[in-house]
Amino acid sequence: DRFFHRSDLLKGKRVLITAGPTQEALDPVRYLTNHSSGKMGYSLAQAALDMGAEVTLISGPVQLTAPKGVRFYPVTTAKEMFDAVCAHCDTADFIIKAAAVGDYRPLYVSEQKIKKGGERLHVEFVKNPDILAYLGEHKRPHQIICGFAMETQNLLENAQAKLENKHCDMIVANDLHTEGAGFQSDTNIATILDRSSRTPCPKMSKYALGVTILKHMLALRTQGEQ
Ligand code: CTP
Ligand code: CA
Repeated sequence: DRFFHRSDLLKGKRVLITAGPTQEALDPVRYLTNHSSGKMGYSLAQAALDMGAEVTLISGPVQLTAPKGVRFYPVTTAKEMFDAVCAHCDTADFIIKAAAVGDYRPLYVSEQKIKKGGERLHVEFVKNPDILAYLGEHKRPHQIICGFAMETQNLLENAQAKLENKHCDMIVANDLHTEGAGFQSDTNIATILDRSSRTPCPKMSKYALGVTILKHMLALRTQGEQ
């Protein structure tokens, strides 16, 4: 369905997208991560390109090739993603945080492989920076910021709280356990929440949802200019 959406709607706009999981090392051979495939973020990047935008894609480790034409910055940890976003957010018109960022990282990264010992292993974790919340706090005039919320319960309540607490303009809420949605799926089912509306999006490809999200951001930006 990709070429169907080729347009100039985002011509002259800079779009910054984060995608994929982050990885946090425990020792030289082990790390913590999540099931994010990166498909939603990469589909968004392709959609933004097809709509004429200048696209920067900051991605955690995934099994996907970056769309041709994006400025691509691969990262591993949440802190690296934070630094890369900070380096590129000033000039972005639209920012979309599709990445599944690890909330915590191990306090100590062992220099040597952790050897097997007793029956239990305790690892202490420290919080990672919340990139979306940081962007919300440092929002530039005219910038439109979109986050994601993937939940397993109380989807809309949790998503609404994220919209408010992180000072973003939009949250794309999706339920991990709905069939046709989720990390590995090529389709998604979502609800777009902004400060004045809730828009249910029926099951569609992640690319088509990407186009829908970008059009929604454009509408918010146009509203803001009036
Ligand atoms: N996010 C982020 N930096 C983090 C954690 C999350 O930028 N350290 C962003 C995600 O990219 C996503 C949004 O915040 O766009 C919501 O992520 P989510 O994990 O659903 O929310 P959290 O605030 O981390 O809350 P929780 O995991 O407890 O549901
Ligand atoms: Ca989280």
